[in-house]
Amino acid sequence: MGVNMRVLEDTSTGSRVALAVLAIILVQRIVSNYLWNKKYKLPPRIPGIPILGNTFQVPPRAGGLWAREKAQEYGEMFTCTFGVNTWVFLNSSRVVNNLMEKRSAIYSSRMSAPVASTIMSGASRILLMPYSDRWRAIRKVMHSILNKQNAPIYAPYQDVESKHLLYDYLRTPNKWYTANQRFANSVIMSVVFGKRMELDNPQIQELLETTSEILEAVQPGASLADALPILENLPKPLQWWRPRAQRAFEKCKRVYKREVDELKGRMKAGTARDCYATRFMSSPEASKFGETQLLFSLGSIMEAGSDTSRMAISQIICAAVLDASWVRTARAALDVVCGSNAERLPEFSDRPKLRYLTAVVKEGFRWRPIAPIGFPTMLIQDDEYEGYRFPKGTIFTWNATSISLDEKEYEEPFRFWPERFLNENLDNVMQGHWNFGPGRRACSGYHVGETNVWIVIARLLYCFDFEPVEGEPEVDSLRVSWMEFNEAPFPVAIKVRSPQHAALIEREGKPASETKY
Ligand code: HEM
Repeated sequence: MGVNMRVLEDTSTGSRVALAVLAIILVQRIVSNYLWNKKYKLPPRIPGIPILGNTFQVPPRAGGLWAREKAQEYGEMFTCTFGVNTWVFLNSSRVVNNLMEKRSAIYSSRMSAPVASTIMSGASRILLMPYSDRWRAIRKVMHSILNKQNAPIYAPYQDVESKHLLYDYLRTPNKWYTANQRFANSVIMSVVFGKRMELDNPQIQELLETTSEILEAVQPGASLADALPILENLPKPLQWWRPRAQRAFEKCKRVYKREVDELKGRMKAGTARDCYATRFMSSPEASKFGETQLLFSLGSIMEAGSDTSRMAISQIICAAVLDASWVRTARAALDVVCGSNAERLPEFSDRPKLRYLTAVVKEGFRWRPIAPIGFPTMLIQDDEYEGYRFPKGTIFTWNATSISLDEKEYEEPFRFWPERFLNENLDNVMQGHWNFGPGRRACSGYHVGETNVWIVIARLLYCFDFEPVEGEPEVDSLRVSWMEFNEAPFPVAIKVRSPQHAALIEREGKPASETKY
């Protein structure tokens, strides 16, 4: 009985202590929330669940449409929570320009990603790096190599690969998506390592695998430990994600190293072609990077540069299937320059006479953004804007799909209408859309990307007709999965324009497909 009484007393003392601790935590929470709310003010919040917020609300592969719907409901900016991160979506060019562009000095870092960045990338992947001296040093070298002045280095690769692409379209039109993939990867492989690419080469397959592994890992919600970095404090043996991420890192390093070693061999033998890697390795800045950083700087370019061009090309083909009217205008311009009887292929030197083609490419960039909800950056110090007060660490993104399809931004935004870009800014590749991102983190390879798409689209439209497949429902271009590369992302009937065009492709494309280096 006495023992029972003591147990009861102990229990009630224990409960009182527990209650007191809970009360203290609660009061602390209330006070810190009060102080936080006094100090900071964020745009309207989308309701979510406790702790994980909106983490599971974004539908996979349809994030752009989800974010557009929210923008229509909440206005120019809204706030979400993904794991521990607070995201502010910027839904108009005006606010993207005012914050991510004009205040880029403080809006250009990246959020912490213990799995995708620290382990899988050895903290060396430029795309995921915080805004730091190391990022600046790499970015500087990248810019010096990828800028427009170096176009003559890349143009011959783009020329030969796009001729090969035409030949692939002629021989196996139903494998057009594979031809696009081969083109995009081979250009970038040539640009970076001065080496062509054959899709059946097992080395190339491994390279492609490393790209898709990291692309998967950076999708929002892909890894719980990236959404909740507090999990990093678990003892290492309990970090279930670590062995897999570590294996991915080792594989990347091995695959990149193999390419670099082969290139060094070619450099020694005097057979290496002028390419990004030879210039990068001989730049004084790069000699200060360690081995991992050097390898990942080259690998990052491969990752960032190939799938993007492939998707942009598919998007314009899709627009051609859906609306033949702009294709007729483009075709007429091409026929004036290259002849209506397949006299010759369009060349880069024709650009001044093919302004409509440049507008087609720009309209493609606007019409369906590569990154449907933008690519997030992190604010590095508290900031104030139009009555809002953002804390350091807030994540910002440009709501790409929403902005592209907003009538306040573009007249008839759903229409593929190249004429909208026939103005004095036509040749400014970045102006008029956000497809390459805003501010200091904007794509460093935009010039190579734009010229890749330009030469392929000019040559494809000159040589082939793209039509809907009879009996198939009309393509819903807002829901096409552009990432798809194992099968056609949408149905399309591709026919060469005439026997003369077929002969032109045989003449130009066959030797290109047989070129070896
Ligand atoms: C049509 C083609 C392309 C598109 C639409 C595109 C788009 C993008 C976007 C949206 C970003 C993120 C920007 C941001 O965070 O604000 C990016 C980053 C990047 N892109 Fe591209 N890209 C293309 C082609 C290329 C090519 C060909 C290369 C290289 C040869 C390249 C290299 C990079 C690099 C290195 C970054 C990371 C920049 C950084 O974080 O500092 N891209 N690109």
